[in-house]
Amino acid sequence: MKNIVILISGGGSNMAAIVRTAQREHWERAPGVRIAAVISNRADAGGLAFAREQGIATHVVDHKAYTDRAAFDAALAERIDAQDPQGHPALVVLAGFMRVLTPDFVRHYAGRLVNIHPSLLPAFAGLHTHARALAAGCRFAGATVHLVTEELDDGPILAQAVVPVLPGDTPEQLAARVLTQEHRIYSRAIADLLRR
Ligand code: GRF
Repeated sequence: MKNIVILISGGGSNMAAIVRTAQREHWERAPGVRIAAVISNRADAGGLAFAREQGIATHVVDHKAYTDRAAFDAALAERIDAQDPQGHPALVVLAGFMRVLTPDFVRHYAGRLVNIHPSLLPAFAGLHTHARALAAGCRFAGATVHLVTEELDDGPILAQAVVPVLPGDTPEQLAARVLTQEHRIYSRAIADLLRR
């Protein structure tokens, strides 16, 4: 059985979509996957309650309890690896996890660390993607699932979804339209990756 660990910081709607898809498609049968744990860097992350209700182990590793990024990332990695009997989860899924990770952390999970970013990468890496897409006059926006490398919001693209920008869109309206597509493509990309 392949264990996957999902990292969140907030509402966790992408995490919830992945959990629902795994339940509906019986990922425990094929590709033989178990969502072993959901870990948040914030105790007040809304998604933790949902995960608990689904019977998934939840953990909080609070970044504020550590003196620096390296110490936090080391504690986080230790907690992640403890979720797999061999200490080597098949996949670590960043789902609205709002911390920049150190190169050491990223190297430790090379090839098994995935992220979803709310833009059509390589356009609009970083924050405020929807406001920037609107300010640039984009006619289309979207989301990207990618393997994580040491460069922020970089790395091989696994899946993308495109949505139209509509006249008068606010960043919030565009974000909501993109988020619906995030929910669709992230679980698909994860299942495909784990079947490789
Ligand atoms: C998503 O738009 C994700 O792409 C971005 O943060 C948002 C998280 O939403 N990184 P949620 O916590 O999955 O609801």
